[in-house]
Amino acid sequence: MNDKNSERSIILIVDDNQTNLDVLFELLRNYGFKVLVALDGESAIEQIEYIHPDLILLDIMMPGIDGFETCLRLKADPSTRDIPIIFMSALSETLDKVKGFQTGAVDYITKPFQHEEVLSRIETHLTIRNLQQKLEEKNLELAQLNQNLERLVEQKTKQLIDQEKTAIIGRLTQGMVHNLKSPLQVIQTSVDLIETKATKIQEDSFFNYTKYIFQAVSKINQIMDTLMMKSRKEQNQDLHPVNINDLVQREIQLLEGNMFFKNKIRKKYFYDETITNIPLIYSYISQVFYNLINNAMDAMWERKIREITIVTRQDNSNIYMDIADTGCGIAPEDLSKLFDPFYTSKPPKGEEQIEGEPTGTGLGLYTCIELLKPFNGEIAISSNLGQGSVFTVVLPKQPKN
Ligand SMILES: Nc1ncnc2c1ncn2[C@@H]1O[C@H](COP(=O)(O)OP(=O)(O)OP(=O)(O)O)[C@@H](O)[C@H]1O
Ligand SMILES: [Mg+2]
Repeated sequence: MNDKNSERSIILIVDDNQTNLDVLFELLRNYGFKVLVALDGESAIEQIEYIHPDLILLDIMMPGIDGFETCLRLKADPSTRDIPIIFMSALSETLDKVKGFQTGAVDYITKPFQHEEVLSRIETHLTIRNLQQKLEEKNLELAQLNQNLERLVEQKTKQLIDQEKTAIIGRLTQGMVHNLKSPLQVIQTSVDLIETKATKIQEDSFFNYTKYIFQAVSKINQIMDTLMMKSRKEQNQDLHPVNINDLVQREIQLLEGNMFFKNKIRKKYFYDETITNIPLIYSYISQVFYNLINNAMDAMWERKIREITIVTRQDNSNIYMDIADTGCGIAPEDLSKLFDPFYTSKPPKGEEQIEGEPTGTGLGLYTCIELLKPFNGEIAISSNLGQGSVFTVVLPKQPKN
């Protein structure tokens, strides 16, 4: 037997028969239990209000309320419901035993008492009760841990969402700022040229430089507008009918301000004149175009043959804009990485660059994909390493939902 139970457990004996009480009292006290007694059901219930026993030995036949009623009342009260009750009954009272179990008792012992049996049943039920209590405590702990965990997960998720939002805003801003660099460079170059050649400058080329400056400034304005629009979130009313052919022609005009594009690259243009207007945000598509042309120029900076071919075409569902270059091409294993933010094969802008070597932040294509999202636009790539690449902007005529 487990004598740990007896060391700390309180047993209440309820019996109107003094002899029975004495026998049990002696037996249990000698065994180490703390023993309380009551002579009838009502005084037992009263006593239990003050001291909760760990187990009750309950006689059935008593004056006043009998054992069954006492048991029912204790089981009806949530504060005493869980105290195990063992009925004490005479051997002949078989029917009563059944009724005893029905009222919520856990066991019964028969009179006259076998000491070993009484102790063993008490021990068993105390152990069961202890285990039940531990289980309940563990369950409570578990529920609390679960609750804490849920709170933690919620907090972490919110944190991650906030971080992600900040990161996206950061990336977009960087992308936009990045797009401002090129027109600023055009202004810088033109101003430098005006300054160094001011005296020698011919009137018509002077006019050209101011035209480039003017165009570059309008480009910056356009980018600023886009930036404002981005922060206001893309809204459908910002879409306007755009003719891709017109857009490409206007962008190329602007690009003529870039000396590398103007003087070092052969250009071929093929426009499908039947292309109709589709609803777009003009400045978004012009930035996409601009980024793709910049990449094409970068890819060709070391090449002998530098040629850019721009094609506009359409089928029933889409309008396409191909930008083909005779640049370095892309290795098949690198294709999947191109749209990742910050993926670049170019060195960052710094002092160690070779003169004219292109630099990169790796945000160009990522920005393109973001800018095409409002129109469900996509970019398709086909490339041969060492020979060149074709980047195709696909614009659905009917925006999908
Ligand atoms: N036309 C192309 N030919 C060859 N490689 C290309 C071409 N376009 C893009 N790439 C590859 O994809 C990478 C990512 O391009 P992306 O425009 O996103 O960034 P980047 O040009 O390196 O830097 P930036 O942020 O200045 O645009 C490039 O570094 C380059 O390796
Ligand atoms: Mg780029």
